[in-house]
Amino acid sequence: MRKVKSTTTFKTQLACFALLAIVTLIRCSPESKEVKYNNSFKPGKICLDTDSVHINAHGGGILYHHKTYYWFGEFKTAGQGGNTAQVGVSCYSSTDLYNWKNEGIALPVSSEPGSDIEKGSVIERPKVIYNEKTGKFVMWFHLELKGQGYEAARTALAVSNNVTGPYTFVKSLRPNAQEWPFDYPEELKNKAYDTELKWWTPDWYKAIDEGMFMQRDFEGGQMARDMQLFVDDDGKAYHIHSSEDNLTLHISELTDDYQDFTGKYIRIFPGGHNEAPALFKKDGIYYLMASGCTGWDPNEARLFDAKSIWGPWKPLGNPCVGEEAHLTFHSQSTYILPVQGKKDAFIYMGDRWTPENPIDGRYIWLPIQFDESGKPVINWYDEWNLSIFDN
Ligand code: GAL
Repeated sequence: MRKVKSTTTFKTQLACFALLAIVTLIRCSPESKEVKYNNSFKPGKICLDTDSVHINAHGGGILYHHKTYYWFGEFKTAGQGGNTAQVGVSCYSSTDLYNWKNEGIALPVSSEPGSDIEKGSVIERPKVIYNEKTGKFVMWFHLELKGQGYEAARTALAVSNNVTGPYTFVKSLRPNAQEWPFDYPEELKNKAYDTELKWWTPDWYKAIDEGMFMQRDFEGGQMARDMQLFVDDDGKAYHIHSSEDNLTLHISELTDDYQDFTGKYIRIFPGGHNEAPALFKKDGIYYLMASGCTGWDPNEARLFDAKSIWGPWKPLGNPCVGEEAHLTFHSQSTYILPVQGKKDAFIYMGDRWTPENPIDGRYIWLPIQFDESGKPVINWYDEWNLSIFDN
């Protein structure tokens, strides 16, 4: 009897152990990781994807396609050096903007030595737009060639037939070679400048304003660093980037297939030191948000508006209000997202960079609201959701 009893106890214990093991296994397997459903934005906090991993899509932008949002960004890695491209451009998808599924690497870096997008190059601020005419997804991004710091100042193109990729690298270039800004005064063309002028002096400012650096780069093409894409209501697309040693923004028209520059461009706010451009349009008015130039450190945002993309652009000051507004709430603009299905609903997307451990960088998403005069303003919220746009 005793023996039977102890065998039964042993069997029961074994069954319990097996059950426990199965439950533990189920809970630990990646597919069944407990998924926390998000229904709000918490700017600055860890932003988990549907695998419960902090989203890795910095300096990003969003494409809305077939009822889904696709977020493309820089895939950063841990530690010093994590700001160079070790992996490529990542992609996440979402239908509600709160819950994001990792769609993998849309554009991988190349392992081929000498490739423009070789592992170790700098790939920043990727943006993707869809071309209705060709049915292709077109990605442009800021590219710095491996081992050259930020000297190359190029923009680069990759295309794909599928929104999530893989994207094929096509080319990198300095845009608008041998093209004058279309509104450039005839009398300034080929003016001789004293290239030794001391920076920040009145004479230097005047020369920058007139286009000394644009003329310097005329033959080989204009510098292109922090960038943005914007598709207008008529389907025309524009490439907006910091040029002329980050002193002056350029707005350039892209060709109908979005894969090249037409050569039509303007310079705005010469010497204004504007970076991180992000553009949106409301009621026929174009709004352009930018930052100053302090590298990874935050500074005060600036907003401009214009009735035509070709200007004249007018400064509206800092759109951020309240505490820490002078530091854009410790962030730098990367994109302004029109929310689908809601009127006048736009989300400011910014990066809170952590250059010492880039993978930890945080996302600052805040609603853009409009004051009584119609001016866009950005307030801080610890937590908010899309219903804010219903009021
Ligand atoms: C920032 C720029 C970032 C990155 C960084 C490098 O000003 O917005 O995208 O290029 O400089 O220092």
